[in-house]
Amino acid sequence: MSDHDQVKTTTMNYDKDRPKAKNPIKIEDLTFRDGHQSLFATRGRTEDMLPVAEMMDQVGFWAMETWGGATFDTMHRFLNEDPWERIRTLKRYVKKTPFSMLLRGQNLVGYRNYADDVAKAFVERAAANGMDIFRTFDALNDYRNFETVVPAIKACGKHFQGCICYTLTQPRLGGEVYNLDYYVKKGKALEAMGADSICIKDMAGLIAPYDAYDIVKALKAAVKPPIHLHSHFTSGMSAMSHLKAIEAGVDIIDTCMSPYAYRTSHAAVEPLVMTLIGTTRDTGFDIKLLANINEILEREVMPKYRHLLDDTKMSIIDINVLLHQTPGGMLSNLVNQLREMDALDKIDQVYAELPKVRKDLGQIPLVTPTSQIVGIQTVNNVLFDDANERYKMITGQVKDLCYGLYGKTAVPINPEVQKKALKGYPRGEEPITCRPAQVLEPEMEKAKKEIGDLAVDIDDQILYAIYPVTGKKFLSWKYGKEPVPAEVKPKTLDQAKAELELIKKAKAGKLVEKKEAPAKGENLRTFNVFVDQDYFEVGVEEVGGTPMVSYVQQAPAKAAPAPAAPKAAAPAAPKPAAAPKVEVPKAAAVDGTPLVAPMPGMIVKYEKNVGDAVTQGETVVVLEAMKMENALAAPASGTIKAINFKSGDSVQKSAVLCVIG
Ligand code: CO
Repeated sequence: MSDHDQVKTTTMNYDKDRPKAKNPIKIEDLTFRDGHQSLFATRGRTEDMLPVAEMMDQVGFWAMETWGGATFDTMHRFLNEDPWERIRTLKRYVKKTPFSMLLRGQNLVGYRNYADDVAKAFVERAAANGMDIFRTFDALNDYRNFETVVPAIKACGKHFQGCICYTLTQPRLGGEVYNLDYYVKKGKALEAMGADSICIKDMAGLIAPYDAYDIVKALKAAVKPPIHLHSHFTSGMSAMSHLKAIEAGVDIIDTCMSPYAYRTSHAAVEPLVMTLIGTTRDTGFDIKLLANINEILEREVMPKYRHLLDDTKMSIIDINVLLHQTPGGMLSNLVNQLREMDALDKIDQVYAELPKVRKDLGQIPLVTPTSQIVGIQTVNNVLFDDANERYKMITGQVKDLCYGLYGKTAVPINPEVQKKALKGYPRGEEPITCRPAQVLEPEMEKAKKEIGDLAVDIDDQILYAIYPVTGKKFLSWKYGKEPVPAEVKPKTLDQAKAELELIKKAKAGKLVEKKEAPAKGENLRTFNVFVDQDYFEVGVEEVGGTPMVSYVQQAPAKAAPAPAAPKAAAPAAPKPAAAPKVEVPKAAAVDGTPLVAPMPGMIVKYEKNVGDAVTQGETVVVLEAMKMENALAAPASGTIKAINFKSGDSVQKSAVLCVIG
């Protein structure tokens, strides 16, 4: 019997009451997490999930992914939303479909390994808030990083889904490292850990259809837990891979509702439903219900997000994944980083350097956070290295990786790079080989003390423990200690539509009717406008009407001229009392050697205060750029004369961070 016969068509009736299939494929919907994370930089707001939440609950999904991954970070940082509240709110609408979250193993929902006490508390609170399935992965596929979270998931009575991150070192499955044997061994290791299901996590869309077939066949033969395929569409192969995986007997497939599908996201659910109708793997889904959900999403939600869609090119697939295996999210990060550095012309050098850096760092899979670690280090090498020196600016995270803080790499790290990275590394110059979190001191109590009363409950405290800088900022918005900045507030559908209308007009050339400037009239008045340190001179003149009256009303009382002498009004009106120009202490005003930001980023912390002595090469500032921490060293020895920013401030490239004299 051929594989096709196993799923052959028996009936073409797509009525929702059609006969149930023998072995229906189960579907996990990713719309509320990976969908908007992939397409809209994780900017999806809870309020935009609610219009369809109840209908989504009726579809019959095996699970809905609603949380984890980058959502926790993005929500509190950019959306002024409490991440914990999202689970509770969605649970009120989605009552029967289990919730799934993406858990980055010991990295939780952050970018480094957290201490065991934080990891345990996080899992317990996620479960208590309503999470059912913990899709757990480790960027290095080092399952020692599961040893704390898995017992916590099990103790809460929740579903532990273990992931194998899918990666390659050559165009197709095979080679020395990432071959079929590797994936089968990883599957067995997960089964031994008690995995309730096993997920092949193809975050970059690298899995080719026939390789998907081989891996699923091999895993189905080797392990008992259900096999789940998570494959991004990025390269354009995933819908084909889904079908081959189904033929090989995969149990669960991940898809998105069509407005959130394709590009760097996932294949849409509707074509798959139609493909399988009448077969032994029929989903049983009501395709009309799916269409109704999509209509609401298109009408009420998508206008708010359209501006976030990368529509700079025609093609919805990314050929670079096939050529360079650079995951979509990572690629856009690299491009942004290069653009901010005015170095977009170096992208080809970055492509050439990336596999070298990856090999130096132990041929690790490229997934959050390793994709950022490898990506940003690659950019640093391209921008700062010269003929005499490689790895001139090593990020804090690469140092951590070389120390063993992320776990065991697939192949050993290049010893030269490792030695250089660990020179003067605070934890020691000798790398560790134990489970990484074993060397981490407990963090919860320290975090509780630091954040104090600004955290009202354990959920606030965990948020702060994972994201100290932005978490603190969020908590001060949440509890009204600081005003909520306009840029983190939601926009209404009307505002979004008006913006899209403007863009449409601009594109049609109807917005930019450039008019000749008229001659300046005698009623022109000049205003001095001061905005922070900037000063503008603005000329204001009323068009038409009766200038006399309005000028008299606006002029300061003391100089109000007689109505009979309108012409005198303008000269008589004194210039608004010039606000005394505030002298902002500028770095340039302080003598000494400036430490400038080599890249745009956010200040994590200053290691020194004004008046402290520093020696050249000593770390003064830690700057976060693209989520990676860069320790910036004193360019000269001396005393800190001025510090121009504080923790949490965003800085431009070349900003003077401090002055050493
Ligand atoms: Co994904």
